[in-house]
Amino acid sequence: MKKVLMVLVAIGFIITGRAIVQSNTPQSISRGKEVYELYCQNCHMADGKGMGEINPPLAKADYMKKPANTLIDVILKGSTASLTINGKKYVGAMPAQEYLTNEQIADVLNYIKNSWGNKIPGTITPAMVKAQRK
Ligand code: HEC
Repeated sequence: MKKVLMVLVAIGFIITGRAIVQSNTPQSISRGKEVYELYCQNCHMADGKGMGEINPPLAKADYMKKPANTLIDVILKGSTASLTINGKKYVGAMPAQEYLTNEQIADVLNYIKNSWGNKIPGTITPAMVKAQRK
């Protein structure tokens, strides 16, 4: 019985330790800002509001509430679907950004989830991006 308890306590520590590493979001967000400025800002703009009828906004975009894997896929595979964001249809195509590292993709997503008034819960980790590359 004592052994079982000790194992449970050990598992508890491992889980809490993980949670601390994963909620390390502030660093991920600030690294993500640099990724954004280099690879995304040309189309989605510095204020995240996108451009005309071509590039959709990320700021306050309903799409940002989609599951993490959907967001990861947009970065890894791009999109030519002509997405409708906040009720408006966008005609541009998003080129795949699969050349970014797993960490860069996790960071940039954590940045856009927490910028321009966005507050989307849940941290995206490099492991989640890795699992999504198929
Ligand atoms: C060449 C321009 C271009 C670049 C560069 C680009 N995007 Fe996009 N992005 C688009 C377009 C256009 C769409 C809409 C695609 C569609 O309608 O199928 C889009 C869609 C999205 C969406 C889903 C729709 C939304 O508005 O929420 C996300 C999230 C996104 N991009 C994030 C990024 C991130 C992060 C980067 C940088 C790593 C990036 N994009 C780089 C043009 C671009």
